[in-house]
Amino acid sequence: MNEIFASAPGKFVILGEHAVVYGKPAIALAMNRRFYLSVRRDDEFKINGDAVDIRANPHLRYIASRNDMVPVSIHMDSKIPTGSGLGSSAALSVAFSAAMRALNSRSISKEEIAKEAFEAEYFSQGGGSPMDTSASANGYGIALNVHGNEEDRLWDISKNGRSWKISRIDVPSMTFVIGYTGVRAATGPLVEKVRKYKDGNRFASDIIDEIGQITLEGLAAIESNDVVKLGELMTEDHKLLSILGVSSNELNRLVSASVPYSYGAKLTGAGGGGSMVVLTDRPDKVCEAIRSRGGMPFIVKTGVDGVKVSNKNEID
Ligand code: PMV
Repeated sequence: MNEIFASAPGKFVILGEHAVVYGKPAIALAMNRRFYLSVRRDDEFKINGDAVDIRANPHLRYIASRNDMVPVSIHMDSKIPTGSGLGSSAALSVAFSAAMRALNSRSISKEEIAKEAFEAEYFSQGGGSPMDTSASANGYGIALNVHGNEEDRLWDISKNGRSWKISRIDVPSMTFVIGYTGVRAATGPLVEKVRKYKDGNRFASDIIDEIGQITLEGLAAIESNDVVKLGELMTEDHKLLSILGVSSNELNRLVSASVPYSYGAKLTGAGGGGSMVVLTDRPDKVCEAIRSRGGMPFIVKTGVDGVKVSNKNEID
């Protein structure tokens, strides 16, 4: 029986989350924690051997519906903590889209997969940007809505009157530590919280504009390999995200504990719990500081491949 294997990486956001939902710039890097899955045709939908109602999972349901709802048995194994702000649901959508497209002899171009996975995310969350799904599909580093060289442009995505230009970026070797608070936080309600704040308050729109501005400065710092400047901007961004109401006591504790040993630190992803990211050249010190405040640290490797798909079980 034909079985298809796929994997897709998680990501972290260096700068620009939440503001990117409104078409502002953002920078995200794929990281060495992946979502693995396989699919093969079956009499009914199954996940890891158990029969399931696929409609209960909006990401899977959306992608299955693009493949005529033909039932499949799915095996999945994620190395990305769920609800951690590290793009686990985007990686699931990307890997599932890739595997289903391959099984049904549809195109498995990264662009097609990124677009279908974004639609699945949007359907599930009721909003959001194509940042996570594009970072996971392409891998390496991506920037959204920045003016760069035409040859670096990967693809454009539009939805409900908003559009995003997605480009690849080169990121010099830098050391990042992720600190997971252990508190799960769903992305949808946090995106909705910011939307409500923005709709009722001009000040929130100014903060979103400022995050966009900081992100452009951050991209220039990356291009000139200026870790000091990039770190300062990350810490500044954390303050702005806190004002938008998406930080938490746990996140603030981990950020404060890390700042003395780093160039900068901030929450990453949706916030409300989830994870923070630190730019540092003292990763062991930072890990110790995060652990001492109850967080779970890990040093990430960037520069990793995007989605992979194969008909052999050799996917890493
Ligand atoms: O927490 P994550 O990994 O789902 O990242 C969300 C990033 C946001 O900018 C808050 C939302 C989005 O869709 O871009």
